[in-house]
Amino acid sequence: MKKQLLKLVALALLTIGTTQAQKALTKEDVQEQKIQSLIKKMTIQEKVGLLHANSKFYVSGVKRLGIPEWALSDGPHGVRAEINRHDWAYAGWKNDSSTCFPPGTALAASWNPKLAYERGIVLGEEARFRKKDVLLGPGVNIIRSPLCGRNFEYMSEDPVLISAMAVPYIKGLQSKDVAASVKHWLANNQEENRGTVNVNMSERALREIYLPGFKAAITEGGSYTVMGAYNKFRGDWCTENSYLDRDILRNEFGFKGVLMTDWDAAHSTVKAALAGLDLEMGTEKKDYNEWYFANPLIKAVQEGKVPMSVVDEKVANVLRIMIKTKMLGDKSRTKGSMNTPAHQKAAYNSAAEAAVLLQNNGNLLPLDFSKLKSVAVIGDNATCKHCGGGLSSEIKTLYEVTPLEAMQKKFGKSVTINYALGYEKQSSFKEGSNAGQSNTDKIDWKLIDEAVAAAKKSDVAIIFGGLNHDFDTESFDKQHMRLPYGQETLIREVTKANPNTVVVIIAGSPLELGGITNRVPSILWAWYGGMEAGNAVADVLSGKVNPSGKMPFTLPVSLQQSPAHALGNFPGRDLNVNYEEGILVGYRWFDTKKIAPQFPFGYGLSYTNFELDALSSDKAIYGKEDVIKVKFTVKNTGSRYGAEVPQLYVSDPVCSVMRPAKELKAFDKVFLQPGESKTVELNVKVSDLAFYDEAQKGWNVEAGDFILQLGNSSGNISQTLKIAVK
Ligand code: BGC
Repeated sequence: MKKQLLKLVALALLTIGTTQAQKALTKEDVQEQKIQSLIKKMTIQEKVGLLHANSKFYVSGVKRLGIPEWALSDGPHGVRAEINRHDWAYAGWKNDSSTCFPPGTALAASWNPKLAYERGIVLGEEARFRKKDVLLGPGVNIIRSPLCGRNFEYMSEDPVLISAMAVPYIKGLQSKDVAASVKHWLANNQEENRGTVNVNMSERALREIYLPGFKAAITEGGSYTVMGAYNKFRGDWCTENSYLDRDILRNEFGFKGVLMTDWDAAHSTVKAALAGLDLEMGTEKKDYNEWYFANPLIKAVQEGKVPMSVVDEKVANVLRIMIKTKMLGDKSRTKGSMNTPAHQKAAYNSAAEAAVLLQNNGNLLPLDFSKLKSVAVIGDNATCKHCGGGLSSEIKTLYEVTPLEAMQKKFGKSVTINYALGYEKQSSFKEGSNAGQSNTDKIDWKLIDEAVAAAKKSDVAIIFGGLNHDFDTESFDKQHMRLPYGQETLIREVTKANPNTVVVIIAGSPLELGGITNRVPSILWAWYGGMEAGNAVADVLSGKVNPSGKMPFTLPVSLQQSPAHALGNFPGRDLNVNYEEGILVGYRWFDTKKIAPQFPFGYGLSYTNFELDALSSDKAIYGKEDVIKVKFTVKNTGSRYGAEVPQLYVSDPVCSVMRPAKELKAFDKVFLQPGESKTVELNVKVSDLAFYDEAQKGWNVEAGDFILQLGNSSGNISQTLKIAVK
């Protein structure tokens, strides 16, 4: 009996032990305990000190509790040079030159998420080396209008492509103990009146087009911070918009990080505090104590307008991110490195894979420089350096190789390079106004004559044209979508003089190309290429690199073709802009309305050829929880190594609501030797076929047939397959 009792007691003890072991604190629990214990020790002044900047890019810490100052930096395609603490001038440091990547649209044009991860890693290492804690990027706003000044910094008109790039970028960056700041939350799709305009859009457009990039960045990428935009959304500023900031960001997405303002985007204390804003940055008031989240916040707490628990929640958000980025005494924090050859190689890879071959009549490209005696290199963009432009994303790069420099270095020994300016930059930049783009269509016949002479005496002419950051920039939009500075005339005359002419477009947003496509055999869109721009474009022209980029946005024939402009709702009226095109943004509009663009979304040629074949799915009928496993083959049928980007679109032909003619659901980038073929498998969740049902306030997949469409652009579908959802 006694023995049995002892046994029972032993068993009971064992069970208690096991339950306690099961209840062992998780890492998150320990972290939250640490946060709460720090908060308990803080005065309200110390708390509030963590919630507003103490200078342009820093936030005070609490020294006595071991909480360091927080250092933020732009982003998104390099670590910005050091700015004075209390004004916008550069500090003039000697050691803050950094690696400059090609901006967002170029990243998206590579359609290669591995490059986004690689970029994140490099940015993280460089940010840490510069002792930065937060890097202000990536920019994931939708490219809604060809005119938006910041298109070059954003990525695409398609939320699936944006998400595919943003997630690995953030993961790479944050793996180096630097917080990302996904921006600009939300609907900052134009620069004109960005600080005052109110954006209205349907709930469906919000859910299907404008939110997914942010959602992926937060729920899959785990972005530690989010930057609230300048504009209003449905009547409330984005930084004090409880629908966006509380209901969606916190409650739906489960965001536990820091919501900060864009610089000078705060408008209130109580409303913003209650809506969920954590951190006020960039307010243009000299005395930091007067900022909305400084003394006025203390007063609001004292007056009972903002509960202390709300302040504590914000402080907890800040401390949580500090712990996650190993700021609170964690010795294993990344030390970082700057300007390493590996970083520069990553910038080169990104530029090389971004180049999109738009046209190549008669296979003029690639150029065999071993057989050429002379090449005319023409255009301001052959020598223009772009890394230092664009405003907040400008980079003081360690170096920037221009196309002319690269061509001279790579081919100058055996090939005579005849350089001519061809056109002159007539624009200028002044923050906040695009007036510097006016009157920039002057044709300079003297320069054209010189270019024609250079082209005549050369085997081949290459014109480097497009735009510069007087057009593609933060703080204003483009006035039009044309090639400026009389470039069309220049291109026409040079091609007349030498039919072997290649046009290289350097730009980060859509341009009208109809005036040149019929005149010139080859067009290569090379973007702003970052510090390695010249090397990358020279290697693509010579065929060392086979172009594999695809347009991340539609190139319309004219501005009027594109949805926001066709409907006359850009940039809005009386400070209101209504996104009347709804979900029909980019190719969704063109394909649904059967409008032929100049070049479609997802388009890009190669020096080799590919065939997509044998599209199949694992089943014919799917349940709503299923995953559709799609298979097909990609074959390189040409004679060069290269990469194809098979794109899987889906349409829902019979539905109770309008559905776009096609929507991108998945893609891959496949590298193949000549003659090689690979089987590719793509997965699409049936739930991803849903539309946002405004009546039911939720996602809805209606049973019926869906058409899977496989192609190498939205305009070239080569295989289709019908599946059913029951
Ligand atoms: C831009 C942000 C940028 C911030 C700090 C703002 O004007 O909109 O993207 O991160 O300035 O430079």
